[in-house]
Amino acid sequence: MYRTHTCGELRLNDIGQEVTLSGWIQAIRNLGGMTFITLRDRYGLTQLVFDENTSNDLKQKVAMLGREYVIKVKGKVVERSSKNPKMPTGEIEIISSELSILNKSEIPPFTIEDDTDGGDELRMKYRYLDLRRNPVRRNLELRHKMSQEIRKFLDHAKFIEIETPYLVNSTPEGARDFLVPSRMNPGEFYALPQSPQTLKQLLMVSGFDRYFQIVKCFRDEDLRADRQPEFTQIDCEMSFVDQEDVLNMFEGLAKQLFYEIKGLNFKEDFPRINYNDAMTYYGSDKPDLRFDMRFTEITEIAKGKDFKVFDSVEYIGGMNAKNCAEYSRKQLDELTEFVQRPQVGAKGLVYVKYNIDGTFKSSVDKFYNQEDLKTWADLMHAEPGDLILILAGERNHTLNALNVLRLEMGDRLGLRDKDKFAPCWVVDFPLLEWDEEDKRFFAKHHPFTSPKIEDIALFESDPGKMRANAYDFVINGVEIGGGSIRIFNTELQHKMFEALGISKEEAQLKFGFLLNAFKFGAPPHGGIAFGLDRWCSVFGGSESIRDFIAFPKNNSGRDVMLDTPGKIDKKQLDELMLKIKE
Ligand code: AMO
Repeated sequence: MYRTHTCGELRLNDIGQEVTLSGWIQAIRNLGGMTFITLRDRYGLTQLVFDENTSNDLKQKVAMLGREYVIKVKGKVVERSSKNPKMPTGEIEIISSELSILNKSEIPPFTIEDDTDGGDELRMKYRYLDLRRNPVRRNLELRHKMSQEIRKFLDHAKFIEIETPYLVNSTPEGARDFLVPSRMNPGEFYALPQSPQTLKQLLMVSGFDRYFQIVKCFRDEDLRADRQPEFTQIDCEMSFVDQEDVLNMFEGLAKQLFYEIKGLNFKEDFPRINYNDAMTYYGSDKPDLRFDMRFTEITEIAKGKDFKVFDSVEYIGGMNAKNCAEYSRKQLDELTEFVQRPQVGAKGLVYVKYNIDGTFKSSVDKFYNQEDLKTWADLMHAEPGDLILILAGERNHTLNALNVLRLEMGDRLGLRDKDKFAPCWVVDFPLLEWDEEDKRFFAKHHPFTSPKIEDIALFESDPGKMRANAYDFVINGVEIGGGSIRIFNTELQHKMFEALGISKEEAQLKFGFLLNAFKFGAPPHGGIAFGLDRWCSVFGGSESIRDFIAFPKNNSGRDVMLDTPGKIDKKQLDELMLKIKE
């Protein structure tokens, strides 16, 4: 028998028991003829002692041990004289009488401790060792618990878990596809699904009514902290629903997860913000609502005072940084440099200090008198002691820069506490998005998203103004999920394709299977997909979804442990009828 207990289990009331434990050696300490070993497994740590009564035979074996050796130990549980309150098993230790070395280990390339000395690249190369560390293991345990709770909730709500294929063709999400050549159909390719979007809609045509799947999706796009080329969606679809039904159902799921995973009881409905307001007040369709600092536009009142920079722009607006009037010259210069970085793209930063004595000091004192500045301050609900930060330029560009500045100020002022959660729904997204380069509309969500019924007439007059029955779920400024009510009427679908500049032939070629299916009685339906990796990372308080994926890829899409992607040999290429271009 390898073990009677795990390394996280033994307590004071186990004293006197003969036990067997197995695990990895975390640390070895020699103290005056005694050897202390910390033994680790998934469940915790237990201290083993080899004292002066240890036989010579055993002492010799102990002398051979090293970090990460796998051992089995038999011994007696005793009370520790110097207890360690930081360890759950810290009140006991095992006086060891038998030891078997189950496996040796080379010296690991980094310390397997909570705070390791291993850099990112090294830990990824030896990810299986990294996964032995508590913080990483806990992240995967959190992910496991999330999946279990999600399944419990959805099963209870009568959703059926159905798997859909990975070898498919293009799906409508609009990123680049990962392609798989078909040996049996030379010159032809499968595409890996960017989501099971069309397949889940077909399941609605089949009458399954409520579907879900925790499923891998694949997108060949530029990677960031919250983007992996393969990631996991909680993909859901429902029949005979409108937007309200979908939002209520999944607000229920979110509340259950908040409660079960984070111990938070959200009694109130989650706030809903329409897309236009989100853009106007936060410059983002995924506002971080942990703090306020919304924007106020002052374009009209700030123009016409001979300040050339303001007079020539489309938009002037800013935010109130509470209690920051004391900001030094250096801090303001830093902020100016920050907004001028190419990623933020503002030309400059205008500030107005609302001094404690009620006077104003600004970077534009030459053009605006105290009364002007008071008007701005009142509009921004500023009080003595506050600092107003203003940017100006082309509207969308400036709102975007204000968003980056707002998040930066939120960080600087400690308003983005990772243990605080502010969920919201963003609704009423535009149906279409104009692309200046291609000079055509694209679907903001995807081409099967239904417009709001009251906006359908705009197809003819002003398609850019149409709103969609589409919604995003956002927590702390992270887009966790998105979905829509779908078009289930062939005529409306054709109108949509027309607006997107997709011809009937092209639509038939790409999505013919779905359009044909819709001829056989498609029910009204809609759904949503959540990014499981992102949801875990927000709950786990990390910016990077990689921490919640057992074997993630780096920012160049490589798995440095598997050393993939890699070359394939000539025989494989020939079988696939492929040739690599020089
Ligand atoms: P969407 O494209 O918005 O919708 O994706 C849904 C959610 O998936 C997550 N996500 C990602 N997570 C990690 N890495 C990525 N590269 C990545 N891309 C997306 C996000 C996002 O909110 N079929 C529709 C859903 C529907 O309409 O039902 C879809 O895929 O959290």
